[in-house]
Amino acid sequence: MNNKVKLAPSILSADFAHLGEQVDEVAKAGADYIHVDVMDGHFVPNISIGIPIIDSLHRWTALPLDVHLMIEKPENYIKQFAAAGAAIITVHIEACTHIHRTLESIRELGVRAGVSLNPATPLNLIDEAIMYADLVLVMSVNPGFGGQIFIPETLNKIARLRRMLNDRHLEAEIEVDGGINVSNAPSIAKAGAQVLAVGNSIFQAKEGITKAIKRFREIRN
Ligand code: DX5
Ligand code: ZN
Repeated sequence: MNNKVKLAPSILSADFAHLGEQVDEVAKAGADYIHVDVMDGHFVPNISIGIPIIDSLHRWTALPLDVHLMIEKPENYIKQFAAAGAAIITVHIEACTHIHRTLESIRELGVRAGVSLNPATPLNLIDEAIMYADLVLVMSVNPGFGGQIFIPETLNKIARLRRMLNDRHLEAEIEVDGGINVSNAPSIAKAGAQVLAVGNSIFQAKEGITKAIKRFREIRN
């Protein structure tokens, strides 16, 4: 597995009564980003967390906050998420009518702009947008919940995206999100993923957070 692959623990699976401690633990164990899942109960059938938590985390941790917006009309909230300290703001292509404008407005705020696709959304939908993206987040489960099973067809999609970016000499980072564990991580990285967003396999690991991260680090070294 490529040793440059980054780990982005997804706090959706964390214990929110001990969030600061758990974020410190993943940071100490070698996490690269903190993945923050924002859900509005409309774009996805679940509600999670929002701007105040990002604001608090930004003041708590030095790790970049990788904010995944699973919300409708994300363009209405970009400024607030940027002000709260997001390092990356990722919007869903399915939620954006004017994706070019939205990505540009994220970049104008000095934040890295990400675009995400649901499992059944074809890659060609972002064909005209990826040059304005700093990150492409490929969903490997249907968004809304942690602890789901990785959809195996995603591997082919990641490989096609890798080729698409290489062919056009684009440098957007490929992140994959959903159902990732130590067994499937090597093939996901081999297909071309550079960042793995991992929830349950880190925060709910029986062996504990630190050991779980170590196991991911072992396979990437
Ligand atoms: C799903 C979220 C994911 C989720 C991943 O809607 O976007 O980030 O937390 O969790 P696991 O790794 O448990 O599938
Ligand atoms: Zn996510």
